[in-house]
Amino acid sequence: MTTQTVYLNGNFIPLNEAKVSVLDRGFIFGDAIYEVIPVFGGKLFRFEEHLQRLNNSLTSVKIKNPYSPEQWLTILNNIIVKNNSGTLSIYLQITRGVAPRNHTFPDNISPTVFIMANPLAALDKSVLENGVAIVTMDDIRWQYCQIKTTSLIANILLRQQASEKNAVEALLIKDGFVTEGAASNVFIIKDNIIYTPPKTNNVLPGITRDLVVELLQKIKLDIREQPIAQSLLNSADEIWLTSSMKDILPVTKIDNINVANGKPGPLWQKLHLAFNDYKEKLCE
Ligand code: PDD
Repeated sequence: MTTQTVYLNGNFIPLNEAKVSVLDRGFIFGDAIYEVIPVFGGKLFRFEEHLQRLNNSLTSVKIKNPYSPEQWLTILNNIIVKNNSGTLSIYLQITRGVAPRNHTFPDNISPTVFIMANPLAALDKSVLENGVAIVTMDDIRWQYCQIKTTSLIANILLRQQASEKNAVEALLIKDGFVTEGAASNVFIIKDNIIYTPPKTNNVLPGITRDLVVELLQKIKLDIREQPIAQSLLNSADEIWLTSSMKDILPVTKIDNINVANGKPGPLWQKLHLAFNDYKEKLCE
């Protein structure tokens, strides 16, 4: 096995040599921002969009972006090559930096930057054929869900509870409306109309979500970004989850009840093809 090369504060080093201080505010407070960027055929998937979201998150928590877009591109392309290109998932994290523990922002510290690349597995054949099960749960998170912060304890507890119920995701409900999954966005289909919640402070603006909206518009399907009442879940024809780690997942069971006939639906099949097409073009 070749050693994984990671990036830490200016250096490309083996994973087992990458160390950060226990006083890092990412460790102490979860005072950090992250991104997950897929790589297909050695090419970054929607780099500009990921960088824009990274900048938005950093601005929201008042951490200065340590690098220019060109510097990011150079570092990320280096990480890709050093990890044998192909299909990868890049994880990057920026913390506020290292300082004696104090809630208030310290003066004059520099952010910690960590990047790793892991192989990104394609969806299982059984998932493509049978879909996945999810459960609904109360959205117990905070009011700034648009920020991609590493402070993920609520998401972790929700996902863990879902997993204990043999479900792959917790679909979150806030005040009677669907927001998103613990680590994914959601689309709900009823009578050939595709609904997804609008981009508010209650959802992470998913990069996969935005691409799906674009692809659906391109293939002339009726996509509407509007609030979704929880009650629509009971009569949905299809439900999909989207994320950088899982592409577009067809949901076939919700709270132990089949979605329609319990098989991935026809609109998902169409979109799945359009999405694969997009990825193949990226690789060319
Ligand atoms: N999570 N909503 C939440 C809460 C998420 O954590 C994610 C992704 C998404 C989908 O966003 P995107 O399409 O840009 O991946 C929506 C990543 C993959 C993670 O935390 O690992």
